[in-house]
Amino acid sequence: MKRLRSRHVLGISYLEPEEIVYILDTAEALRGILERPIKKVPPLRGRTVVHLFFEPSTRTKLSFELAAKRLSADTVGITSSASSVVKGETLIDTARNIEAMKPDVIVMRHPMSGAPHVMARYVNSAVINAGDGTNEHPSQALLDLMTVRQHKGRLDGLNITIVGDIAHSRVARSDIIAFTRMGSRVTVCGPATMLPPDAESLGAMVSYNVREAIRDADVIIALRIQKERQGRSLIPSSREYASFFGINADTLRDVRPDVLIMHPGPINRGVEMSPEVADGKRSVILDQVTNGVAIRMALLSLLLADPSLSDGKESDRGEISEQ
Ligand code: CP
Repeated sequence: MKRLRSRHVLGISYLEPEEIVYILDTAEALRGILERPIKKVPPLRGRTVVHLFFEPSTRTKLSFELAAKRLSADTVGITSSASSVVKGETLIDTARNIEAMKPDVIVMRHPMSGAPHVMARYVNSAVINAGDGTNEHPSQALLDLMTVRQHKGRLDGLNITIVGDIAHSRVARSDIIAFTRMGSRVTVCGPATMLPPDAESLGAMVSYNVREAIRDADVIIALRIQKERQGRSLIPSSREYASFFGINADTLRDVRPDVLIMHPGPINRGVEMSPEVADGKRSVILDQVTNGVAIRMALLSLLLADPSLSDGKESDRGEISEQ
């Protein structure tokens, strides 16, 4: 495989398993650059990446920016509060104006599900979805796959349990699609008010009992309670949530000794996860963050350049099919 089928990365749902493996292998090859004293290679020299973040972000925004800089791309960015969106500009007008400046890639986070798909319709640049509403967060799912593959050596036949606010989580949605597509079993667990009606149609099993859900898990992914996306309170209190669904030393008493503990961040310490577990020996949360830079380097290089970075040669961009 030489390139991805689509010129956009809008969701895991559009990626075939072999494309996912190709992205993970490319990210593994690029990860070494992050360990070098001089963390910069030339393949995206002269390319421009625009970062549009219409929602807060620490990990995704910084790692996309670092990924672009590590590959020598020019980067510029804007947040919604500093953009003309606050003056009433529509998403389509924003898209047309950005396109008029001729960037190569637009990395976009937006509170509205489907916003990056709208952007992709109006621009010639490649669009990468950095999280849209409750829909998808594809680069997060890819970095989660990369982290699990590094630690478990495979992605098939594993038991993955995702605990928390599944209904409002684009990470959960992308992870369910990603892990099932790669041959693992996914169980989602949380209060009934936080489980989506379509979890089973996505291929996940549903549990309301955290101890049962994690007993045979190879990987536990805890998610944040997303108060900003819940129209009303879905749990009586954070304390009650922590006592029923929080991942702590007590809930982990009967789990597999080699279980991996993951969290996309940001963590509400003491709510979805205790500090001892977040910082404990089974936690790979900071590996996820490091892998996030490598995955985003892989996405940029596969969309824009020849992935064989060793000689820094660039290939033609060419035209590839729309998704
Ligand atoms: N995992 C994640 O999307 O984190 P940020 O919101 O900080 O980007």
